[in-house]
Amino acid sequence: MEKIIVTGGNPLRGTVQISGSKNSALPIIAATLLTGEPCVIRGVPNLSDIQFMCDILKWLSVKVTHHKADGVVEVAAKHPLGVAPYELVRKMRASVCLLGPLLGRLHNCKVSLPGGCVIGDRPIDQHIKGLKRLGAEVVVENGYVHARCHELTGADVFMGGRFGSTVLGTANMIMAAVLAKGTTSIEGAACEPEIEDLCNFLTSMGAKIKGGGSHIIEIEGVEQLHGADHTVIPDRIEAGTFMAAAAITGGDLEIKGARAEHLHAVRDKLEEAGVTITRNNGTIRVTSNGDLKPVDVITMPYPGFPTDMQAQMSALMTVTPGISVITEKVFPNRFMHISEMARLGADCALEGSSAIVKGVKHLSGAPVMASDLRASAGLVLAGLTAEGETEVNRIYHVDRGYERIDQKLRAVGAKIERVAE
Ligand code: EPZ
Repeated sequence: MEKIIVTGGNPLRGTVQISGSKNSALPIIAATLLTGEPCVIRGVPNLSDIQFMCDILKWLSVKVTHHKADGVVEVAAKHPLGVAPYELVRKMRASVCLLGPLLGRLHNCKVSLPGGCVIGDRPIDQHIKGLKRLGAEVVVENGYVHARCHELTGADVFMGGRFGSTVLGTANMIMAAVLAKGTTSIEGAACEPEIEDLCNFLTSMGAKIKGGGSHIIEIEGVEQLHGADHTVIPDRIEAGTFMAAAAITGGDLEIKGARAEHLHAVRDKLEEAGVTITRNNGTIRVTSNGDLKPVDVITMPYPGFPTDMQAQMSALMTVTPGISVITEKVFPNRFMHISEMARLGADCALEGSSAIVKGVKHLSGAPVMASDLRASAGLVLAGLTAEGETEVNRIYHVDRGYERIDQKLRAVGAKIERVAE
């Protein structure tokens, strides 16, 4: 296993290029199962989660060529198998998004339940409700979701759960409905840009979809879909993470390749905290003079403040004078990073689904343990400002969602290196 050693104190300065979106690429690669014709997906980040998804498709007897260096994934799902096994699915919860395309294409599929993860209980009741509304018989037994039908028929479905909309639940519904007979109306759909990107890809395959990226998505089923060539959108969470990195180090970063329109909530919060953010032709410039103000953050489904940026914002608030309240409305237990940040000297108290963060003058470096993708990103950010050396262990968590984060940070002045544990 590898770890990252970061020595804090260097303001980040320079330009960083944002990679393609992991959370867009994953459902889009799954969506290629909906046709036997070749599909080409471009701008795909070179991440372990992408590799997992490609490995699962290969296991399903799908022809997959992953050109990692070029960020291109070619897929031709001529005759996919319909069973995604536990030993593969358990490595990545997002593989639940195989349900929709496998059911839509084969009308009979078994996908292992992924099991829990450290950010909290990951139920799929809304996924199952939606597929049943389309006429599928769905049984959960022996750790598998078994979905089958004679044919899928369009239906109206409301996809909001206890915590609001569901991103992959919406993705599964869309991917099952595009080949269903008749029209499907998804209300309470997730509005994340990654859903809009999935709808754009499916439309380029011949699907008939209106309202992708809004709360109401109308789908008119078609007989079949054809291959397509698609470039995924940039990763808004990677971009937000580098914006927070500029803020926490009192730096001046130019962030290239991100879509500013996907980052309104993040920009709003960082500006409220005293960070200066400007835009000019496709570049977002983030500067901070180190004079930060405490802010309260509540995570919500898009366009609200993203839960995937909560750990990074928590890290920033640990060194911001005053008291900030960070409330998790999407994954209420998503605070594994808080106890690790306390090891760096952060002063945080958990109250239910909120972290009360009292800013300290400075953090001090120490060995910490990564627990999940975004928690580890938060710990790296904390290490960028902590005095001395911070060792972030189990860095494979970061590599699931960030392409070469240590290289990108080093290129803009961070003292950071990756070493074997
Ligand atoms: C997607 O996960 C993202 N993953 C997550 O990013 C992200 O945190 C999450 O959306 C929320 O934005 C991918 O896109 C691959 P949800 P997803 O279903 O779709 C509850 C990262 O770091 N819920 O939108 O699995 C659920 O428990 C990852 O990149 C139900 O109750 O999340 C949660 O509280 C982590 N029933 C809330 O909804 C259901 O059937 C939102 O979950 C489904 C979900």
